[in-house]
Amino acid sequence: MEQIITSEPRLKGSLPSDFLWGAASASYQIEGGYDADGKGPSVYDVLWKDQANGEIACDSYHLWREDIAVLKKYGMKAYRFSINWPRVITLGGANDPINEKGLEYYSTLIDALIEADIEPIVTIYHWELPYALYERYQGFYSKKEMLPDFLRYAELLFERFGARVKNWITINEPHIITTAACHLYKGKWNPETDIPRWAESMLLCHGATVDLYRRKFQTRQGGKIGITLDIDWTEPIDDSSEARHAHETWMGHVARLYADPIFYGRFPDSLMEYYGEHAPSFTEEEWKLVKGSTDFLGLNHYGTSWVTGEQWTLGEAPRMESCSGRVKRVFVKDGVVIGNRGNNGHPHDVPWGFRKLILWLHTNYTKSAQIPLMVTENGFSVDGEIDLTFEEKIHDVQRQHYYAGYIKEMLEAMVDQGVEMSGYFAWSLLDNLEWTSGWVPRFGITVVDRENDFARYPKDSAYMLGRIFRYASGQT
Ligand code: NOJ
Repeated sequence: MEQIITSEPRLKGSLPSDFLWGAASASYQIEGGYDADGKGPSVYDVLWKDQANGEIACDSYHLWREDIAVLKKYGMKAYRFSINWPRVITLGGANDPINEKGLEYYSTLIDALIEADIEPIVTIYHWELPYALYERYQGFYSKKEMLPDFLRYAELLFERFGARVKNWITINEPHIITTAACHLYKGKWNPETDIPRWAESMLLCHGATVDLYRRKFQTRQGGKIGITLDIDWTEPIDDSSEARHAHETWMGHVARLYADPIFYGRFPDSLMEYYGEHAPSFTEEEWKLVKGSTDFLGLNHYGTSWVTGEQWTLGEAPRMESCSGRVKRVFVKDGVVIGNRGNNGHPHDVPWGFRKLILWLHTNYTKSAQIPLMVTENGFSVDGEIDLTFEEKIHDVQRQHYYAGYIKEMLEAMVDQGVEMSGYFAWSLLDNLEWTSGWVPRFGITVVDRENDFARYPKDSAYMLGRIFRYASGQT
């Protein structure tokens, strides 16, 4: 499958030598050890334990050496993982005790990665909100209370790990956090009024964390810090103004709501209008923290859907759409609309959509800010993978096709359009726990034998990624 790329000699050696490539994970999805060594529960451990039990997950709390072994086997240069907040501060608050044992786990992991010549990329907040903070003030619901707790947590990580970690991601996918909040904060959540409130709270925690890092740590430690946004592309289904407007609405709610404040120090007019009296707002002091607060733009991208111009009503809208301007999305295959669900609920394999998105971000944000884009997640879940035989799981042809196509678009955007990119991470290193959806869908490039000894078995896509990135780095 890598011929999709290796038949293009101009892509050989197209990557800069400091380009980071590897795979990504998140602590709740892989670690298990949910109450080990003083760890406190996160919201997922308590509110969703019947639907999605993360007590053991992939047991990376004990088997992290196996994770490093597969990263090494694939030839990866970097590994993106997240810290589980209540593992390092059991109750989460700024005045709550620190859990040294939890810190030790991450410290050992970071040392072992560096020893294996794999660069650690750390996500500070990949949704593992300490349950105690949910009980105290419902996390991001309360900007005032969340901010000091978030800052102390981040500061602790900079203090302990900043000498070794050179790339930090403050918050993973603020937009998806709002869609998950619909789930977590049942009965209390109204997207039309709560999203602007959460956006404010998340942007401020992000901005203040970056400010803290820049003031106290960055010069000495020499790292970079950014945010990761989730953006799937929408394509207008035809040239009608309704379809084009729907595309703008989607990009507004999913991307501009977070990127405009960070890059331009303002919220988009269309969203101020949409949210009316509930529109987000910052004081002058807060704007100073938010504007310009990213050294790179992290992008999580999975696929493309089409928009017609129709809108869902508030009550009817599926979870994702209720948090994305209620735009109706459909999926198209071979020119035919095939319904409003993608594979496993995720969008399809549409490589050119990735290219369009990269160029949109480059043109609207990163080019003029002169900062790179970093693909912090990109991946594919094969429909029905759970029911396949072991052999079929390993020979994951569809996933290989996806990766080869998407990476080619990224490389071409770099070569042909001069887009600056600093990294690419496949989602995910392991077949892991997909939050409240449980063990389906699966995105891994490695099978985990959870029935037996939790051994890790590489899928073909993992080796293919290695071959592609070696080629693009000019090594073969
Ligand atoms: C993005 C999230 O960051 C990750 O945790 C999740 O598993 C993938 N999307 C796939 O849905």
